[in-house]
Order: sequence, then C-alpha cells, then structure tokens
Amino acid sequence: MVKALVWLMLTALSGGGVVIYALYQQYEEQSAEFRILYRDITVKLSQNDVILALLSNSSDPAVVQKKFPYILRWQTKPHEPPRPDINPARAGTYWINSPQGSLLIDLPTLLADFVRSQKFRHLSLSWQGTPLLTQGAEGKGDWWRWEKEVASPSQPLNLLVTNNPDWRSLPWFMLALLGIFWAVVIYFYNQYQATKRQRHIADLRAHFSELARLNTMGEIAAGMVHELNQPLTAVLSYSQTAQRLIKQQQAEKAEPLLDAAVMQTKRISSLLLAFREKLHSDEQTLQPVDLRQIWTRVVMLLGNEIERGNVSVINKIPESLPSLMASPLGIEQIFHNLLNNAIQAQQQTDKAWVTVSASQTESHIILTVTDGGPGLSEQALQQVFMPFFTTKKEGLGLGMALTETLVQRYNGSIQADNSATGGACFTLIFPLIQSEA
Ligand SMILES: Nc1ncnc2c1ncn2[C@@H]1O[C@H](COP(=O)(O)OP(=O)(O)OP(=O)(O)O)[C@@H](O)[C@H]1O
Ligand SMILES: [Mg+2]
Repeated sequence: MVKALVWLMLTALSGGGVVIYALYQQYEEQSAEFRILYRDITVKLSQNDVILALLSNSSDPAVVQKKFPYILRWQTKPHEPPRPDINPARAGTYWINSPQGSLLIDLPTLLADFVRSQKFRHLSLSWQGTPLLTQGAEGKGDWWRWEKEVASPSQPLNLLVTNNPDWRSLPWFMLALLGIFWAVVIYFYNQYQATKRQRHIADLRAHFSELARLNTMGEIAAGMVHELNQPLTAVLSYSQTAQRLIKQQQAEKAEPLLDAAVMQTKRISSLLLAFREKLHSDEQTLQPVDLRQIWTRVVMLLGNEIERGNVSVINKIPESLPSLMASPLGIEQIFHNLLNNAIQAQQQTDKAWVTVSASQTESHIILTVTDGGPGLSEQALQQVFMPFFTTKKEGLGLGMALTETLVQRYNGSIQADNSATGGACFTLIFPLIQSEA
C-alpha cells in the first residue's frame, strides 16, 4: 500500500513536471506564431497607407480592383464633412482617411491568407471596441491570450488571439515510461532493502552465535572447576593418608586408599574427556544407564565425605527400574552434586541421612533425593538452580545449575522442595521413551 502511494506520488510529481514543461514549450511556440502573425498583419496594413498616397484620380478602378481586390472604393479628395480616421463602414470594412483621400478596405479579403493559415482558436481585429474581423469561437475561457495593437498610425487595430493547449500532443508515451521507471526503481530499492535487512540479520545471528559460543566456553570452564574440585581434593586426601600410613610402616592399610585415589583419578580423566567432547560438539552419545548402579558408584566416590559426616545413605531404587537412555557420566554428575549437597547440608546434624528412591509411571521415571538436613531457605527455593547462587563459604554456586542443565539434556526436569521432615527434597522426572534400550 505504502509502496503504491510512493509510486503514485513520484509518478505524479515527475509526470507533472514533464507536462508543465511540455505546456511551456507549446506556449512559447504559439507566442512565436503570434509574433509572426502580428508582424505580417502590421506589414499588410502599412501597405494601405502607401497605396492611398499613390492613388490618383486617373487610376483605372478596374486595374486597382484587380490588383488590390480588398480595396472596395477610394476617393482622392478628403471627405466633407471629415470622416473619423477609421470609419468602420460595415462588418469587416473600414475607411482610412488622409488629406490625400480615403480608401474603403475589406479587411477579410485583405487578410484572407493569414487568417486561413493561422491555427489559433480565436482571432479578432477590432477598432475601439468595434470588431472588424472575427474568426473562431469566442474564446473567453481559453487558457492563453495574446493581445497587441497594430503599430500603424492610420490603422491602430487591436489584434487579439486565444488558444488552448493541444492535450493530444503531450508526451503521453513518456509519462507511461515514467510510471514504469518509478515502478522499477521502487522494486529494486525494495530488493536492496530486503537484502540489506537479511545481511543485517545474518550479521546479528553470527554475532549471537559467537556470544553463545563464548558463553558455552565460560560454562564449560566453570563446570570443569566445579566438577574437578571434589575428586582432586579426594585424591589429595587419599594420597596424603596413604603416605602417612606408609611412613608408619602400615603399607597394607594404604592399598585401599590408593585404589580409591586411582578411582578418583579415573573419574577426573573421564570428566576431562567429556568436557573435551563438549568443546567439539554438543551432541553426546546416549546409552542405557542403570540408575541404581550409578548411585552405588557415586556413594563409593563420596565414601570419604560420607564416612566423615557419618551419613547413612539409603538406596531405594528398585532393581526392576528400567534403564534410562543417557550418558553414564552425566547421570553420575547429577547424583554426585545432589549427594554432595545433602552431605554438606548435614555437617551439623547428628543423624545425617540421604535417601534416594525411584518409581515408574506409564511414561516417566521419577527419582527423589531426600535428606535429613535443615532444608532450603525461602531464597534458596527460588534461586537454587541459578548459577553462582550459594550459601556456602567455599561454594561456587554451580552444582545445581550444572545439574539442571544435565537433566534437561536428557529431556528431564528437576524441582527443589522441602520434605515433611524439613530436609531438602529434589524430584527428577525423566521421560521413559528414552529408556527403551
Ligand atoms: N540438600 C540441600 N539442603 C540444603 N540446602 C541446599 C541443598 N542443596 C542445595 N542447597 C542450597 O542451594 C545452594 C546452591 O547449591 P549448589 O550446589 O548449586 O551450590 P553450592 O553447593 O553452594 O556450591 P558448589 O558450586 O560448590 O556446589 C547451596 O549453597 C545451598 O544453600
Ligand atoms: Mg553443591
């Protein structure tokens, strides 16, 4: 709609300009024609004065009539009583008077050639308001009008012509071309704008994907720090204890500690491998994962902390639970973060406990991790999954944010609540379709 209006406006403006120019040209041409006509009539009328001076009584009327058919009568003595300078006798004829004599001129015959060949719509010659010669329609409403008195002392007749523009000879073809020209210009301008917009969108998209990539890199770095922190601490602690035992000549007691250190180191290695894969691609190969088995492994990995905190861990995941299509390391990270938080939350609790249970509906697996700690504060309930939300002195506030990302990667959801006994209760729901292995 706007385009059509713009097209109409441009065409009207440029078309108007062309029409005005064409009319101006016509006006100039016709002004020139008027000047020629005026000059010719002036010359023709001036001849009458010469003829009047040359005629004498001896002139043969037949010869004069033949040579000058527009001289109807003449006399070589002045009129008595004197006639006015020009005496309009009857329509189209008038007397010219001079001391030498008088001539009766028939104006239509005198000017027959000019009048016939002129193209004006209206032409008139008059003397003091009395029309002597009129040609064409009256022409009062005509567009253009030229008027001038003939420069002859004896015949100061008034010449008036009018005319209208010749609409048919306006450059209609050019006007049509202008319409087409503007349509083409608007079309290409639109195309140019559309391409520019697309290029801009593409630039923005590239910019955003670069930002997203940087964001992912940041996430990965933060995730690495968080996930590697615990196993590294565990390895250090196992190794230092083993070192001490060996020094005390109790090498046999050091062996299980070194085994645990090896296990934690392997975990570090597989975490690094997973992060490296994530750097190359976001896709992970999914495989059937036995949740019960992974939970047992995580309990083993956090054995040190569980022992130190005297936490009883209860595994209520039924053996019959179908396996879930996921990455074992991913599920391990989820359980690790949940169990670690539960242990940390119960450092001041006498009877610390953590229970994991699982059930299955027609389409989902539902997992709950409940603990005997103080539970989540009002603020923690709102922000527990937000990166960098922490209430701990040494905490990064990334564990639950990473956990939520991982759960969502397997199309699941996670919710934080407080249980009836006051402790925290995390509910994880995974769609069962993925568990068809
Ligand atoms: N089981 C829980 N009981 C009570 N509060 C919890 C529990 N789990 C999480 N929270 C609260 O949620 C916050 C965020 O947990 P999150 O694991 O994301 O970070 P963090 O444990 O503080 O630090 P880190 O990044 O080292 O794990 C905790 O600081 C704590 O206040
Ligand atoms: Mg944590």
